[in-house]
Amino acid sequence: MDFELTENQRMMRDMTRDFAARELAPIAQEMDEEGHLPDDVLTKMAGAGFFALSYPEKHGGLGLDTTSYGLVIEELSRQAAGVAIMAMVHNSVGCYPVASFASEEVQAKVLPRMAAGELAGFCISEAGAGSDAAALRCNARRDGDHYVLDGEKMWVTNGARAAFYVVLARTPGTTGHRDIHAFLVEAGQDGVTVAKKEDKLGLRASDTVVISLEGVRVPEAHRLGDEGEGFKIAMQALDGGRIGVAFQALGIARGCLDEAIGFARQREAFGATLADQPVIQHKLADMATELDAGRLLALRAAWLKDSGRPFTREAAMAKLFATEAAGRIADEALQIHGGYGYVKEYPVERYYRDVRITRIYEGASEIQRLVIARSLLREQ
Ligand code: CAA
Repeated sequence: MDFELTENQRMMRDMTRDFAARELAPIAQEMDEEGHLPDDVLTKMAGAGFFALSYPEKHGGLGLDTTSYGLVIEELSRQAAGVAIMAMVHNSVGCYPVASFASEEVQAKVLPRMAAGELAGFCISEAGAGSDAAALRCNARRDGDHYVLDGEKMWVTNGARAAFYVVLARTPGTTGHRDIHAFLVEAGQDGVTVAKKEDKLGLRASDTVVISLEGVRVPEAHRLGDEGEGFKIAMQALDGGRIGVAFQALGIARGCLDEAIGFARQREAFGATLADQPVIQHKLADMATELDAGRLLALRAAWLKDSGRPFTREAAMAKLFATEAAGRIADEALQIHGGYGYVKEYPVERYYRDVRITRIYEGASEIQRLVIARSLLREQ
């Protein structure tokens, strides 16, 4: 067993740490307040390769392993989780289905644009289909060598800025997962509109929107995988995505721990700093221990994925534990700050809001438990 990162992994982590401290930390609070990411930050992120992390070098990607990808997401999240989510969704559920299931010709055309920062979003959820993803109703009607898409998709991260969407839709009149197909849709196509921008509790630098699809004509060549493979493609993309969410939660939790230590060292009460007092020391010790346990689960899931072994269950475990632990860590960090944690003077107020969604998106904790339990029961 080897707990050392490779030189490449360390390099990506350190480069991202520098980038995040230099480019994101100084404006993180402002981006949160304004609910907006400046265009020049996006350009700098593209320049650093954050939108080209995991797909092949021949198509403009960096071809990184999952551990490096996770470390990048953790470091971005440490300073600005609302920015990290944009890279995370783009690379995992946005680019992965294209890099793995589009024809070589479509990949060669699209992936270099994605690498250059033309963002991708993932359109699976609908008003009546969230945790129960196979209940989606968006229609894909066959029309010669095209499909015609009609429906409305919710919770689309990157949706307002995206150039591409991976869209899950079904043959009209069907139910269940076997008639669901995956498509690559371009944002500029006729019939694709951003119907609503959500006003969120956290991750406010990133946009989350409703996408409306009305009579959108998609060529057969832009179907990802075979007919009926859409649901499994989405599940595979989400397996990888869940590792990213685990690392995102760990990044936010590390921010909470750093801030809590900093505050405890300078704040005095009862004639000593908070850091001198066992009640606070115990909190810090528990926070650090949970953080490490989450990191080990996330690294194991990444390692399994890179080794080509099954990792669905381990990705679910990593997401479940890391996001729930991060919620507890954020709560304790705020508690250590007392009233100061409840106002915007210190970043823990933002971390506390940002971390909450990690227990919901890309499969809520309840869904991760379902995935883990089903896998255990199948094995027996
Ligand atoms: N990989 C490959 N195939 C898989 C799979 C996986 N991880 N999980 C399931 N499948 C296959 C099954 O083998 C099965 O195939 P067969 O019928 O051929 O055997 C098929 O898919 C259906 O599987 P289930 O019966 O398990 O499906 P289900 O309807 O019971 O649903 C679920 C399973 C795990 C609950 C799934 O619906 C799920 O993951 N729900 C959560 C959805 C989710 O994460 N949404 C997040 C959306 S993205 C987002 O959050 C916004 C954003 O932009 C960040």
